[in-house]
Amino acid sequence: MTKMTVNNRPVQYLLDPDTPLLWALRDASNLTGTKYGCGNGDCGACMVLVDGVALRSCLVTIAEAEGRLITTIEGLSRDRSHPVQQALVAEQAIQCGFCTPGIAIAAAALLEDNPSPSREEMDAAIPNLCRCGVYPRLVRAIARAGEAASGARPIEAAPPPAIAPEEAAREVPALRPTGAQPQRN
Ligand code: FES
Ligand code: FES
Repeated sequence: MTKMTVNNRPVQYLLDPDTPLLWALRDASNLTGTKYGCGNGDCGACMVLVDGVALRSCLVTIAEAEGRLITTIEGLSRDRSHPVQQALVAEQAIQCGFCTPGIAIAAAALLEDNPSPSREEMDAAIPNLCRCGVYPRLVRAIARAGEAASGARPIEAAPPPAIAPEEAAREVPALRPTGAQPQRN
């Protein structure tokens, strides 16, 4: 049994210790916001925070993640209120959205350390691939998220999710409060 904390909840995986963290999160915890792109460490679609560091979860085994604090895109905020999420919407820096969770995770980690990154620092910290090519808008969004996080330039709140976090949690075991069971109406 491999234990870790996922989105502030204790989780135990009864999986082969060599299972990539990506598959444990997606298949066992139903946290499908973390995407599978290449499986080779090239695209960054699978990025999650491991003790606050953005890592490619396709390259991290659950054994390596044991005891760590894992944050997926579902845990970055419960209501899309993280400055990176707000800025991505405000700058319309999303097309198909497949790369977006990984980029949001990488950007959140960067801004935590450096709220005003240069273009070169963004390129170094966020090597993620976007097949839709929204890179110019991503650069604007990340800069704007830094401004919002520092309070220099607030962002008008984006529309709330179409589903309440509590309703989503009923279907996502790792998001439910400990001991809570799914509820059906
Ligand atoms: S799926 Fe992990 S880097 Fe592409
Ligand atoms: S928005 Fe489609 S891959 Fe980036």
